[in-house]
Amino acid sequence: MAVSIPPGAPVQGGQAEIACYDPVARALHWLVAVLAVIVVALGWAIPGAPRETDSRELLLLLHRSLGVSILGLMVFRVVWRLRHPPPPLPQDFPRIEALAAHADHALLYVLFLVMPLSGYVNAAAAGHSVSFFGIVAIPPLIPESPGLAQVAVAVHLTGQFLIYGLVAVHVAAALMHAIVRRNGILERMLPSRRPG
Ligand code: HEM
Ligand code: HEM
Repeated sequence: MAVSIPPGAPVQGGQAEIACYDPVARALHWLVAVLAVIVVALGWAIPGAPRETDSRELLLLLHRSLGVSILGLMVFRVVWRLRHPPPPLPQDFPRIEALAAHADHALLYVLFLVMPLSGYVNAAAAGHSVSFFGIVAIPPLIPESPGLAQVAVAVHLTGQFLIYGLVAVHVAAALMHAIVRRNGILERMLPSRRPG
């Protein structure tokens, strides 16, 4: 039976006992990770759908609404992170790798705020509101500006490639820790683990 790990509880790594992220941080991590995969897949599908068709409108609605959901979750996540610092890495963790991991994480935080914001600014600067699952419409909160709308879409289309690179490095590092080094780093973020 799987058990959840209390915040800050020690996790048995390959060589040493290390503490894991708190349950809210872990839940937010995996929720945003799953939503990120869905939102990118929807984003890729948008250009393939013919303009002014219901299928394109549905893809756009779902992409934008899930993107706005990610924005809300990321804002909450940043506030949570500032009030709940993660447990320290093991003392023998190489300093250069810790720096690289922190940089990768910080950039992921920034990009997962910039992507939905640029998506919203693109619509708002063109004078359009953004529908959230057809339930509420978020009005344009900035003055109309075709130039800004173009900059925003350029940021949105370019930002995706930074995300692919950062996530690829991030997942590769997590798998390397789990499979090669077996040092308990992946377990710091897992929702639960088996005892023993
Ligand atoms: C974390 C949030 C988001 C991510 C990761 C993301 C990512 C993407 C990706 C990968 C594409 C496909 C780009 C391409 O075809 O090369 C895309 C397209 C698009 N996204 Fe987002 N997006 C996010 C949020 C949003 C939001 C909140 C909005 C609007 C409110 C939005 C509006 C759009 C639009 C309109 C397109 C089509 C652009 C075009 O083909 O000209 N996105 N997005
Ligand atoms: C299979 C996919 C993934 C795995 C295995 C994974 C694994 C991990 C692990 C083990 C950590 C904790 C690292 C540490 O102990 O210092 C972590 C942190 C983090 N991950 Fe992921 N991750 C995945 C996908 C993603 C995705 C898609 C995103 C972006 C949305 C993401 C964003 C982050 C961020 C921002 C942190 C830093 C958390 C903090 O310190 O507040 N991860 N991830």
